[in-house]
Amino acid sequence: MGGIVSRTVDVVVEQPKSPGSPVARPDCVKREDNDTAARLLPTRPTLDKLRTAAAGCQACDLWKSGTQTVFGEGKRSATVMFVGEQPGNSEDLEGRPFVGPAGGLLDKALVEAGIDWTDVYVTNVVKHFKWEPRGKRRIHKKPNAAEIHACRPWLEAEIGVIKPVAIICLGSTAAQALIGAKFKVSLQRATFVPSPLAPLLTATVHPSSILRAPTDQARQTEMRQFVEDLRKIREAISRHTTARATLLPH
Ligand code: URA
Ligand code: SF4
Repeated sequence: MGGIVSRTVDVVVEQPKSPGSPVARPDCVKREDNDTAARLLPTRPTLDKLRTAAAGCQACDLWKSGTQTVFGEGKRSATVMFVGEQPGNSEDLEGRPFVGPAGGLLDKALVEAGIDWTDVYVTNVVKHFKWEPRGKRRIHKKPNAAEIHACRPWLEAEIGVIKPVAIICLGSTAAQALIGAKFKVSLQRATFVPSPLAPLLTATVHPSSILRAPTDQARQTEMRQFVEDLRKIREAISRHTTARATLLPH
């Protein structure tokens, strides 16, 4: 009986201060915590510490089907962060993002657009490969909202460490996760959206959608548009960087 009374007192003490907000019951906090990767975050995160912690993540069920966690890659000083949906088959096997066909296409487009690969960080909304078997092949399956939510602390921590000037979502899964459900990649590609995440935030198509174009000609057209988006992004970054350099005291 005494135990119950003291528990009740604890709960009252832990109530949030602001009036009207829901009572923070200890079991609610715990459930939320267990649903995401948040509790695995190191206290003073660095990319290395994050990568090591994420390697053991089991915050959603995707760790069971993926071979390994595929964490983001690139320098801490990167100016541009590209965010894809999730690792593909090659990435799952190698443990590195964008090393398969979509990554090859992204490399090529970056060269054409004049964006230096060493200034880029690449990552994904979800860090494990989700797939279903088709014959002997593993076919990519879209991550669901719970999986995206569970994995989000890793992405937010990457953004927090790198503080990129520009975040570029590749495809609608990343755009919906970081910009919002209303953003339509087909209509709004390479247009910038105000966000607390970075000075420049936008989305363009996913390189794998270009690989899936039905004809060679369609693929070439889509590739040209993709490179055009990246050029626009590069120019916006230069404008931003120049403006900032001018504003800063020398
Ligand atoms: N597609 C993605 O979204 N991410 C990768 O890392 C590879 C392919
Ligand atoms: Fe953790 Fe993300 Fe992998 Fe789920 S997909 S187990 S949240 S790293």
